[in-house]
Amino acid sequence: MSGPNTQYDPVEVAALDPRNLDEAVVAALAAFARAGSLDELNTARLAHVVKGAVAQAKREIGALPPSAKAEAGKRVGAAQSALGRALAARKQELEQDRDQRILVEESVDVTRPVGRRPRGARHPLELTSERLMDAFIGMGWEVVEGPEVESEWMNFDALNLGKDHPARQMQDTFFVDPPDGGLVLRTQTSPVQIRTMLERTPPIYVVSPGKVFRTDDLDATHTPVFHQIEALAVDKGLTMAHLRGAIDHFVRVMFGEGTRTRVRASYFPFTEPSMETDFVCFVCHGDDPSCRTCGGSGWIELGGSGMVNRKVLVACGIDPDVYTGFAFGLGIERALQLRHGVTDMRDIVEGDVRFSRQFGMEV
Ligand code: DAH
Repeated sequence: MSGPNTQYDPVEVAALDPRNLDEAVVAALAAFARAGSLDELNTARLAHVVKGAVAQAKREIGALPPSAKAEAGKRVGAAQSALGRALAARKQELEQDRDQRILVEESVDVTRPVGRRPRGARHPLELTSERLMDAFIGMGWEVVEGPEVESEWMNFDALNLGKDHPARQMQDTFFVDPPDGGLVLRTQTSPVQIRTMLERTPPIYVVSPGKVFRTDDLDATHTPVFHQIEALAVDKGLTMAHLRGAIDHFVRVMFGEGTRTRVRASYFPFTEPSMETDFVCFVCHGDDPSCRTCGGSGWIELGGSGMVNRKVLVACGIDPDVYTGFAFGLGIERALQLRHGVTDMRDIVEGDVRFSRQFGMEV
């Protein structure tokens, strides 16, 4: 083990040489002054405070003889505090610069119009469909639904549209592969009548909205996928007076109190007698021969209806001598077009939110 190094001359330890220390301090102060950002200042701190000549000098003190420690310690301490002060002062300056810059760069102009995220909107078909249903729900009817891929039997046969029935050809049907598999995309919501009568026993008061399909090309007045709403009531003692009452109620919910209706004889295989209902034009009230909404006739066609054909009741296992029923069906697109003056069917189909948004968020 070696004894204390009494021969040690602190002036010979280069790191503790006062000139070297002074130079180191000058170099450090210059580096702090050069630092243009807090990051650069940190780099200078690592080089000149954490490492560098002054830190090295501090380490050397430990190896000095006790007589030399105090003086060397004073000098190194003075150098260290000079660095500390300069570092703190430069840090403060650079922090102020940074804060100043952030205030300018990240300032928010609260007077600028906000870039709102465009909101979606519920499709007006949905809104119209709900409004139509509400008219029935208000009378205590229930909403029922059926499948879009339907059996030919439900879509045609049970509705008294036999294989050779001309009306079966009139509805341009999409057949589901294989073609003889007996499945179609339903061409009308009327098969929901059949499903309901097979599943329930009267009294039945139901309404059924949904998609239907026909092989039409999309143009201003046609779409291969559209929507209908079907209403069916089966009970004891129902007559055409009840049918008209229901239609009148529903027309008034859609087109306003006091809207008059009229009926014309018509034909549907599943109703007997059948009729077409018109209502007084809600735009001109029948007073304007040049009215664009009703074409000047004063009347607008609503849809088909009638007393449920006895054959249909029998097909569904309901005794036509005990029960009678009435039904009607109409197109929802048409109701939407009429109510809101939508002239081009494609606007309804294409799903552009700018179209839907015009109808607001009616709920
Ligand atoms: N299903 C018929 C169609 O698509 C509309 C219809 C007419 C429905 C008379 C009915 C009705 O319930 O009674 O043309």
